[in-house]
Amino acid sequence: MTTPAERLQTPEGRSRLIKHFEQSSIEKHNDAWNDLWETGSSNMWDRGKPSPALIDLLEQREDILSPIAANGQRKKILVPGCGKGYDVVMLALHGFDAVGLEISSKGVSTAEEYAHKELQTPQAYNFGPAWANKFGRGSVSFIQGDFFQSDCTKGEKFDLIYDYTFLCALHPEMRAQWASRMADLLFSGGLLVCLEFPLFKELSHPGPPWPLQGVHSDLLAEGGDGILYPPKPPQQAGTGSFERKWYIKPERSYESGQGADMLSIYARK
Ligand SMILES: C[S@@+](CC[C@H](N)C(=O)[O-])C[C@H]1O[C@@H](n2cnc3c(N)ncnc32)[C@H](O)[C@@H]1O
Repeated sequence: MTTPAERLQTPEGRSRLIKHFEQSSIEKHNDAWNDLWETGSSNMWDRGKPSPALIDLLEQREDILSPIAANGQRKKILVPGCGKGYDVVMLALHGFDAVGLEISSKGVSTAEEYAHKELQTPQAYNFGPAWANKFGRGSVSFIQGDFFQSDCTKGEKFDLIYDYTFLCALHPEMRAQWASRMADLLFSGGLLVCLEFPLFKELSHPGPPWPLQGVHSDLLAEGGDGILYPPKPPQQAGTGSFERKWYIKPERSYESGQGADMLSIYARK
C-alpha cells in the first residue's frame, strides 16, 4: 500500500505538471492552464467526484455551514479554480447558490456540461451517510475569468468561498494576492473554507501542487506572504484579514490526501 506522498512522487504523478509550469513565466500561467484544458490533460488533477470531506462538513456541521442565512435567503458560495465543477454541483444540491470560477473556457464548458447532466440525475457520490434533504436545491452557475482580476465576478461578493487545490496550483509568489482577493470577495463575517492539500509534501519541493504546510494560517491569520521556504522569522501574530475559527481533521477525504488533509475555516474580519 503506497502513501499519498509516495504516489505523488511516481514519475508520472509528480513531474508532468511541474515540468509544464517550469517552462513558462508566472505571467503566462493562465495560458499554461488553458493549454492543459485544451489538450485534454485535466485528468492530472481531476479527482472524479466532489470532496467527501466537504460533504461531511455540510451534512454534520450545520452549525458551521448552513446554506440558509438569518434572513431566510440562500447563501452564495464561490469555488475559484473549480475545474469540472464537482463541488459546485454538490454545494447546490446541499442548498447553496453556487458559482464556479475558471480561467479556461474549455474548463467552463466542461463544467456546464457536467452540471447539466448531474443535476438531472445526481450520483450517490454527492451525498454522505448523514444526508437529509432539508434545504432543497440552490442554483449553479459558472464564470469564465481570472480570479486575480478585480472585476472577475462583476463586483459580486460572497457569503462563503471554498478552496481545494486552487492555492496549491498557484506559484508561491501569487499567494499574498490570493489572500487579498479572498478578502475582497467575501462579505465581512463571510467564511473561507479550505481543504488543505498537500500537507505531506516537504516545503522545499516544487509544484504544482505546491506544498502548503503552515501556509494558510501564515497568509490568512498572520498576514504573511505565505512563502515559508526558505524559512524566515515568524510574522507578528494576528495581523491578517482573517481569523481561523475551526481546524478539523476530516474522517474522509480524497485518497490522495486521506489521513493528511485538514479542513480550515477562516472568518473574514
Ligand atoms: C489543480 S486544478 C483544481 C481544479 C478543481 N479545484 C478540482 O479539484 O478538480 C486548478 C484549476 O484552477 C484553474 N485556474 C488556474 N488559475 C486560475 C485563475 N487565475 N483564475 C481562475 N481559475 C484558475 C485551472 O484552470 C484549473 O482548473
